[in-house]
Amino acid sequence: MKTDVENLWVFALAFKFKSLFSTNFACFTLLLVLTWLAINLIFWAHPGGTAWGKHKWRNFSSIPINKPIPGPKGAPIIGSMKLMMGLAHHKIAAMAESFQAKRLMAFSLGETRVIVTCNPDVAKEILNSSVFADRPVKESAYCLMFNRAIGFAPYGVYWRTLRRIAATHLFCPKQIKASETQRVEIYNQMLDSYNTSELDELRELVDQGYELLGTLNWSDHLPWFADFDVQKIRFRCSKLVARVNRFVRRIIEERKTETATPHRDFLDVLLSLQEPDRLSDSDMLAVLWEMIFRGTDTVAVLIEWILARMVMHPDVQARVHDELDKVVGRSSAVTESNITEMVYLSAVVKEVLRLHPPGPLLSWARLAITDSIVDGYHVPCGTTAMVNMWAITRDPDIWEDALKFNPDRFLSENNSTEFSVMGSDMRLAPFGSGRRTCPGKTLGLTTVTFWVASLLHEFEFRHCCQNNVDLSEVLKLSCEMANPLKVRVRPRRPPIEPHVLAFNV
Ligand code: HEM
Repeated sequence: MKTDVENLWVFALAFKFKSLFSTNFACFTLLLVLTWLAINLIFWAHPGGTAWGKHKWRNFSSIPINKPIPGPKGAPIIGSMKLMMGLAHHKIAAMAESFQAKRLMAFSLGETRVIVTCNPDVAKEILNSSVFADRPVKESAYCLMFNRAIGFAPYGVYWRTLRRIAATHLFCPKQIKASETQRVEIYNQMLDSYNTSELDELRELVDQGYELLGTLNWSDHLPWFADFDVQKIRFRCSKLVARVNRFVRRIIEERKTETATPHRDFLDVLLSLQEPDRLSDSDMLAVLWEMIFRGTDTVAVLIEWILARMVMHPDVQARVHDELDKVVGRSSAVTESNITEMVYLSAVVKEVLRLHPPGPLLSWARLAITDSIVDGYHVPCGTTAMVNMWAITRDPDIWEDALKFNPDRFLSENNSTEFSVMGSDMRLAPFGSGRRTCPGKTLGLTTVTFWVASLLHEFEFRHCCQNNVDLSEVLKLSCEMANPLKVRVRPRRPPIEPHVLAFNV
């Protein structure tokens, strides 16, 4: 149990009273409990709840006099844990609205101070500030080795080195172009229902990892609770990480024994690094696991949402088909160079990213490494900061007819789509922004657009068995369709019978 100043104070007080009431132990215990409750109620009464109150009272003399950030108190001790359960992006947006705190809202998760914004200007302030360049510590992320990979490595030399290596050898335009043949190969495997026991195992590892990282872990916010591992997260992480170790290590060992590989890929680069960039085997394993992990699910989830929208809006699908016929032609297969000419498809992808951002809360929060001022409020070092991108992208003050699916909003008069979703415009920044922006955004977007274009070129997607598409969401690390999409597809090129496809992401 963490001993803090106020606990010591309670015990000192209790000790003093104990001698007075030594004959009446029950009175003493009652007094102890009442004093403890009174102190916690004082903390809890602060806007934003207990964690904010504690900070205020502990640093009473050093904090500049400033109005507090508005926000819910939540429950005493545990704070607003309920806010982060289930569809947290919906609940946070509604709470911010009711507190008139869309620009900046404070709340407590146990002992953790949190701020969240549903406003693009404040989002820019947070994401692009060097103060918020770190990630809050998550037990599951550490157990699953992500602290040795880019996503959760503390902001510093190691993180910078990894990002530089990844930017130079995996995410640069030349490397993305060079990996086109691999994406074509994988697309063809998708059509052949290609399945191996290795793929099944990988799917299981990624699914479990997503579930563990996406679960709100009470131990992260209530330190006195951590030893108990009530949700069994630590236990499940340690079982998973042993399997991940075996899986990824096997890939590395196989590659080390190969004499020549057809395409030099990221693993070859990692293996050939020389000092000072050389990574230990366990760091290499962590980096590869992260790339597999981040690269698979986000892409699959986004493709599923796009296809769902295509089924719901046959008129939009027909326009994409027309564009494909014009740019590619029915007799040819899609290539990635075709994609740059497909302006309407690009607008469709942006509109799906707007209504269904795979990371509605930008997946991983940020951590303040020093005290700072955000939107005029004092934000102390150690505060967790989140951006509710989902609320921003559906805000009627920002987007006309915000809930309407309308890709045309991204087409300008000269039929181009200039709106960048890469993090320069916070009205739609599904890949985050600033120092910790998604390094895989160009690769991810290229992959999604190419595979969607290829699927739509090959098939027409329709409702399956009179069922309407169910847009219900489930929030894990990404926001997925609660009921996986089932569609009927009709080949557009060779004339064969229609059949049913179920997408299993
Ligand atoms: C549609 C696809 C994707 C979406 C929507 C997405 C979204 C995101 C978001 C919102 C973040 C947090 C950014 C921030 O804090 O500002 C992130 C971080 C990250 N993403 Fe992606 N991502 C996608 C694809 C990929 C791919 C393909 C890879 C790698 C193969 C990747 C690797 C990463 C990594 C390593 C980080 C952590 C960056 C850091 O902390 O420095 N992502 N992504």
